[in-house]
Amino acid sequence: NDIEIGIVGSGSMGGGMTLLFSQNGSRVGCYDYEKEAVEKLMKEAKEDENVDENLVHGFTSLEKLVNAFPKASKDEKDKKPRIVVLSMPHGKGVDKIEDQILPLLEKGDIVVDGGNEWWAETEHRQAKAKDKGIQWVGMGVSGGYQSARHGPSMSPGCTKEAWEYLKPYLEKWAAKTPEGEPCVMHIGPGGSGHYVKMIHNGIEHAHLSILCEVRALLHYQLGLSNDEISNLFESWWKDGPLRGNFLIGIGFKGLRFKEGGGIEHAQDGIVEKIEDKVTQDVDLSEGTGTWSAKEIAERHVAAPAIAAAHQLRIISSDKQERSKVADNLNLPQPSKAKEAKLEKAEKDKLLDTVHTAVYGAILGAFIQGLDIITKASQDQKWNVELATCIKIWRQGCIIQSDAIAEFFLPLFEKFGPSEPLNILKSIPEIAKELAKTYDAQKKLYTIAIETDAVAPALGASLEYIKSINCRDLNTNFQELELDYFGHHNYDLKGKAEKGHEKGKYHTEFAKMPGV
Ligand code: 6PG
Repeated sequence: NDIEIGIVGSGSMGGGMTLLFSQNGSRVGCYDYEKEAVEKLMKEAKEDENVDENLVHGFTSLEKLVNAFPKASKDEKDKKPRIVVLSMPHGKGVDKIEDQILPLLEKGDIVVDGGNEWWAETEHRQAKAKDKGIQWVGMGVSGGYQSARHGPSMSPGCTKEAWEYLKPYLEKWAAKTPEGEPCVMHIGPGGSGHYVKMIHNGIEHAHLSILCEVRALLHYQLGLSNDEISNLFESWWKDGPLRGNFLIGIGFKGLRFKEGGGIEHAQDGIVEKIEDKVTQDVDLSEGTGTWSAKEIAERHVAAPAIAAAHQLRIISSDKQERSKVADNLNLPQPSKAKEAKLEKAEKDKLLDTVHTAVYGAILGAFIQGLDIITKASQDQKWNVELATCIKIWRQGCIIQSDAIAEFFLPLFEKFGPSEPLNILKSIPEIAKELAKTYDAQKKLYTIAIETDAVAPALGASLEYIKSINCRDLNTNFQELELDYFGHHNYDLKGKAEKGHEKGKYHTEFAKMPGV
């Protein structure tokens, strides 16, 4: 009864992976410190007709899990590394498991951390495991619990050696494109795999924000019912530049539900009954959204839609506090747009504009996220290829967007690792595509402004294009003031130093006549 794969954590992700791996023919052992959780999983294995329940073993002792692997051969060359996949929340719990499991494992064994984790933390653990000759892999696993069960998109960051060993397993488990290509590839060394997953989530958060903002604009400002919005989203999902966008796909289905959970008979869809606060399982100061926002600042990369989406989540999270602030501000609440009254032909035209605007914002969020990945890859010398990211995001993950991936892939394939640093500078085709959405984004955001509708990610997407397109930004006055109070120095027009270099001119404003 020797196990082939060990899993630590039998929650929805770990449990799903246990069933997925056993469905693919591996004998799997799953450990959880909670007896009930293990029992629940064993019951699921028994009831799942696609799984041979004899291939699934439950453990409440980590030691017993490790001992369930075949005894290691004495002959070095016949040694088969044990593979243990962790599926648990990031942070201290993982440290604890690392401390417990390293002494139980042997040189050459592989631990794959399949949770979301801060990349630098992963690199610490990799160094610690390396001291004992154990390979620690930081791997993003995307697609939620349903993909964990049926095939996720995965981003492993590890040595080439660990990757070569894991490859046949991961390729078997991964989501596949319609052409059968597995959505898993070696991302790079160190924390690069977790980094790419973190930015995947940053992009995901921007997409979530863009879609919730536009759903509200369509419903409350433009007067479409949720059923009409569902049909519209379905048409976007089926055809056009947003074809195959996962969040639009689940969005149109979700909007059709009239009951579920604690909700009964919601005529206009259950969405209207759901509280508007976005909660998080993890500590608010952590998590992929917070880390992405931090990275944007630290790496000095412009990614306003990702940052704005995170801000909206923060604002949304405490409903009571928000209500008190609203009492004090007492400003207008979002209202109906004049465009709600348009005749059908005109309204249809407007909905085409909304389609283009949403495409532009979603495309922009991809560009911003990919720029962060490239910068980090250069800084950390990870050699991540953007084409690889696009390939593994083609199926199984939350930011899957078929038409966009088809557009991006041939353009990114021309570049090597850690390139291009600035997508809109280096790939004119992408800049032109984004530019085509500008007027539509402007129109949609104008409606939001005129109606007091909340649309921070849509606004940030538009301002991103406006500011990076602007040949003469307003920041010259900022330079003047900075130099006035802080001897900051400035450059002179036409004499700008290259790149980020500090200007060499200074004015002693305070000593100027008349000051
Ligand atoms: C994915 C998701 C997933 C996400 C959790 C929690 O790719 O499957 O991004 O990893 O982290 O659903 O979401 P939040 O951290 O955004 O609350």
